[in-house]
Amino acid sequence: MRTLHTVAELRSALAQPRREGRRVGLVPTMGAFHDGHRSLMRRARDECGLVVVSLFVNPAQFNEQSDLDTYPRDERRDAMIAAEENVDLLFAPTAAEMYPQGFATTVHVGGVASGLEGTQRGPGHFDGVATIVTKLFTIVAPDVAYFGQKDAQQVSVVRQLVRDLNLPLEIVACPTVRESDGLAMSSRNALLDPSERQRAVALYGALNAAQELVSGGERSATTILAAAAAALAQASLDPDYLALVDPSTFAAVSSVDGPTLALVAARVGSVRLIDNQLLV
Ligand code: PAF
Repeated sequence: MRTLHTVAELRSALAQPRREGRRVGLVPTMGAFHDGHRSLMRRARDECGLVVVSLFVNPAQFNEQSDLDTYPRDERRDAMIAAEENVDLLFAPTAAEMYPQGFATTVHVGGVASGLEGTQRGPGHFDGVATIVTKLFTIVAPDVAYFGQKDAQQVSVVRQLVRDLNLPLEIVACPTVRESDGLAMSSRNALLDPSERQRAVALYGALNAAQELVSGGERSATTILAAAAAALAQASLDPDYLALVDPSTFAAVSSVDGPTLALVAARVGSVRLIDNQLLV
């Protein structure tokens, strides 16, 4: 595996594999790798002739300076993990490389980007995600890019921008990888202290409470959300949001009559976690 720090180095490393017609897979990440990232890399390795992983903690998508400052970073460990997963190229640029002096362009996605994370983290969050992802897509020009379903709204935002800008690549969403007690894997889990770690599993509990009611025939969003909120309250968690949405539009539903995505975001201590589950 080669680690590259500049756009020029990466483009030159991609030229030959592309001439050979190898299928290029991109896994965009912010590092602090866990088994969720490994699952994206493995899927890319299975399906592509060349696997590129980007590692960049993107300042533009953080609405809180303290969140950016405390975001876990360990490039050496990440490079070892990517090498273990047989990644070909690790692209780890600096902020100055991605946002050089005079940078003045923002990619703004409407519709699916507007509520939930878009509201809680501010409009700048998905603008930051859309802008960096568009840059990575144009730098790497992958045939396929892999994202985690844990960030369900992000996946929808990326799909929307790929569709709207006619970008010639496929987006693959990979299933959320969970700890043995159900907590969704996240780089932020490393910031939880032991008692917060115990309480954090309540996000998964809330989604399960919603699923149990739906499995029992309940259709009312109000009733389902009340049960999910009660599961969070048992762990003294007050959600930023708990929502039932149509997965294609991210519009709230009042009744679970078709495919419905349950989403939750909550702060456990100072660590903000999100999770979601398709209710079946
Ligand atoms: O999901 C992430 O880690 C980030 O939002 C992404 C897609 C790498 C963009 O910075």
